[in-house]
Amino acid sequence: MASLKTFTSCFVISSLLLACSWFVAIEAHGSAPIVKGLSWTFYESSCPKVESIIRKELKKVFKKDIGQAAGLLRLHFHDCFVQGCDGSVLLDRSASGPSEQDAPPNLTLRAEAFKIIEQLRSLVHKACGRVVSCSDIVAISARDSVFLSGGPDYDVPLGRRDGLNFATQDATNANLPPPSANADTILSSLSTKNLDATDVVALSGGHTIGIGHCSSFTDRLYPTQDSTMDKTFANNLKKTCPKADTNATTVLDIRSPNKFDNKYYVDLMNRQGLFTSDQDLYVNKRTRGIVTSFAVNETLFFEKFVLSMTKMGQLSVLTGNQGEIRAKCSVRNSDNTYIKLETEVEEGIEALSLFK
Ligand code: HEM
Repeated sequence: MASLKTFTSCFVISSLLLACSWFVAIEAHGSAPIVKGLSWTFYESSCPKVESIIRKELKKVFKKDIGQAAGLLRLHFHDCFVQGCDGSVLLDRSASGPSEQDAPPNLTLRAEAFKIIEQLRSLVHKACGRVVSCSDIVAISARDSVFLSGGPDYDVPLGRRDGLNFATQDATNANLPPPSANADTILSSLSTKNLDATDVVALSGGHTIGIGHCSSFTDRLYPTQDSTMDKTFANNLKKTCPKADTNATTVLDIRSPNKFDNKYYVDLMNRQGLFTSDQDLYVNKRTRGIVTSFAVNETLFFEKFVLSMTKMGQLSVLTGNQGEIRAKCSVRNSDNTYIKLETEVEEGIEALSLFK
């Protein structure tokens, strides 16, 4: 008994030491630099109210259904990881073929999230004209989703432009790792985007809110139960998903499913992470200490999450004269009949003035 106690206390102390040493190491990490073309005050004169308009509207949306916050946070992640944060995930399929939205990882994005972004765009453009990009609206909405669910508030560098094309199905699948991926796979996949182990663990903390479908995790239950999963947790998941292809959902963070906090990491320490990509962060030696440090220190998690989100939010952005400011988030301007008509009328007026 005494030896068990000694072992347990040694384990706890060594976990905390690991967390402490990691904490010292990341202090030198510094703050995320801002990329050329983006700015903290981008809409200061062209649309000074953009952020307050979005926040006010989202407060109303979340009051009715806080679940929408998770949908909007995930939308920003799926936008940024595929071809950069250029709003390409918002584009509907076109004559040229299926869009990013048709790729398997995007099929579980919430339809409401797209509608909310379009509603916000309409409000913002009504107030300021067509000056704010859809990709910036997505980035601001993700920040507000975090904050209004109880997480940190932070400034978002702005000035993204919207892309003219969406990515192929192959590119979409290749850039969004599946939930069955282990930590080594996620680490190497995200390192291609200059995101390190701290970023991987911090960004995965986005799973502190929201839901997942059975198909995203039943490979851990059937035919054999994943040995890294807590038995009671697994039995409860089996009740939600009696068969691998059940179309039900469950929460990502059993301790506080709608609150943006550090409980996701406490779940992982208790073998209650939903996806392999979550739980393996506590199995893998390279990420385990980071998980522990976030589980014991929420302030540290919030600080690192903001840094990593700021990095993610600037991946391959279009700025300056690149891309465009879409008049409707789901359609590029050259395919937008309203804009086409507007341009034709303008050209007609110009032509007429030549005869005067
Ligand atoms: C690191 C690799 C990641 C993987 C493998 C992954 C995978 C997934 C999967 C499979 C789902 C559930 C889909 C479903 O079954 O409905 C999900 C949901 C979610 N993910 Fe991730 N994700 C990752 C990273 C992130 C990041 C970086 C964020 C944001 C910072 C994020 C935020 C979310 C949110 C908020 C939900 C819940 C969405 C909702 O309730 O509608 N994920 N993720």
